[in-house]
Amino acid sequence: MVDPALNKSIQNHTALGTNPGCTNVNCHSIGRIHISTLTKPVLTLPNSSFCTDICHNTKQRHNGSTGLNCTQCHLNTSKSIHPVRYLQQDGSNWSTSNSSAVNCTSCHQGTGLTNFSNASKIPTPMNHSINRYSGAMWNGTQSRFWENTSQQSSCNYCHGTIAYHNSSGLGNITLIQGTNTVRQSLTGGYWCANCHYNGSASAGKYSYKGNLFDPVPPEILNLTGSVPAISRDGTAFKNHSGYFNPDFDDDACKACHDNNLAADVTSLNFSHN
Ligand code: HEC
Ligand code: HEC
Ligand code: HEC
Ligand code: HEC
Ligand code: HEC
Repeated sequence: MVDPALNKSIQNHTALGTNPGCTNVNCHSIGRIHISTLTKPVLTLPNSSFCTDICHNTKQRHNGSTGLNCTQCHLNTSKSIHPVRYLQQDGSNWSTSNSSAVNCTSCHQGTGLTNFSNASKIPTPMNHSINRYSGAMWNGTQSRFWENTSQQSSCNYCHGTIAYHNSSGLGNITLIQGTNTVRQSLTGGYWCANCHYNGSASAGKYSYKGNLFDPVPPEILNLTGSVPAISRDGTAFKNHSGYFNPDFDDDACKACHDNNLAADVTSLNFSHN
């Protein structure tokens, strides 16, 4: 119905953004009320292409073709595209509000959510360090990297909210991936160095890209001079120059930064602990 006042039983596509008109050619098209040009698109669940083909072409499935379809987080099983919703953090309710929508911690920490049991789990809580200022130690008087009271804000800093809609579930972590793989051995892994160590590259083993994060993580030679001399808890900056001979792989970091890691630890546990 062109006149919204007559349109009593059907809500708009989204409660939060701009809506296409009912007569949009990709929705119901236009014509007199019993004419064959009026259409109703076929929508089988789960689905992504219906969303991405024409309208949401900047969004990708969470973790690519094996990953989650748009409808798994946005359409409840009644196929209600009027309106689209957000799966809530309990994994069973749906709402048009995004304020308590499902987030990284719902599916990837603790026991996760029933319908998403194949989501890999990271330690709970995620500790980048066990210092109580973790997330606020090395950024001087500027804003925090992440809010230590909220696990989700740390995910947002490293992975970014782009990860919901990215063909790699890693989101912004792909910026520092280089040749690393997930759950890899610490020996020969360079996840840590790619964020923290801007020393001269060694045979293409690693590639520092910490400067692509905002704010930039503390660089352990302080080559840009931007790391404060004293951290928020009063410890002095430790210049790591000369620490790494012959290598600066994740295993070298573990030698001094081991927070009770198990013997068979992989990059998954170390990055989040
Ligand atoms: C893992 C769950 C998940 C999947 C899968 C998912 N989304 Fe989302 N989406 C969210 C969450 C959470 C938000 C709200 C937070 C935000 O905006 O980043 C959101 C927000 C949105 C928004 C509104 C904000 C914006 O960025 O424009 C659109 C549009 C959207 N998603 C479209 C899609 C499409 C299209 C797909 C499939 C390609 C998809 N989503 C897949 C969780 C998901
Ligand atoms: C609704 C549940 C859900 C939410 C919310 C969600 N994920 Fe996932 N995620 C999954 C599932 C399920 C998979 C496994 C998909 C597959 O098999 O490819 C996955 C895959 C991943 C992977 C790939 C793991 C691998 O082994 O390569 C990463 C990384 C990831 N998610 C990170 C995140 C981050 C970061 C967020 C928040 C921005 C997030 N996820 C939000 C369910 C979720
Ligand atoms: C300091 C940066 C950092 C923070 C903070 C962080 N991650 Fe990660 N995350 C990484 C890195 C690096 C990897 C890749 C290492 C790996 O998976 O082996 C990763 C990998 C992952 C994976 C894939 C695990 C796998 O191998 O299948 C998931 C899921 C994930 N993170 C979820 C989260 C969640 C949820 C949060 C917030 C509670 C979070 N991460 C916070 C850096 C971070
Ligand atoms: C995505 C970038 C990123 C990756 C990958 C990363 N870190 Fe960090 N790291 C940070 C940020 C940002 C901080 C600053 C947090 C703060 O000020 O408390 C930090 C802080 C630290 C600190 C200081 C303690 C603290 O809480 O401030 C140590 C030690 C550290 N990282 C070691 C590592 C090790 C070891 C690895 C590899 C397992 C690693 N980091 C991987 C971003 C990263
Ligand atoms: C020989 C031991 C040693 C090795 C190896 C080592 N660190 Fe450290 N690191 C330290 C010490 C000591 C501190 C200072 C701790 C404090 O002040 O509480 C530190 C502090 C840090 C900090 C906080 C900022 C600073 O410089 O004070 C970061 C980030 C960091 N290390 C990352 C790394 C990464 C990444 C690796 C591996 C590439 C690594 N470290 C390897 C001993 C080491």
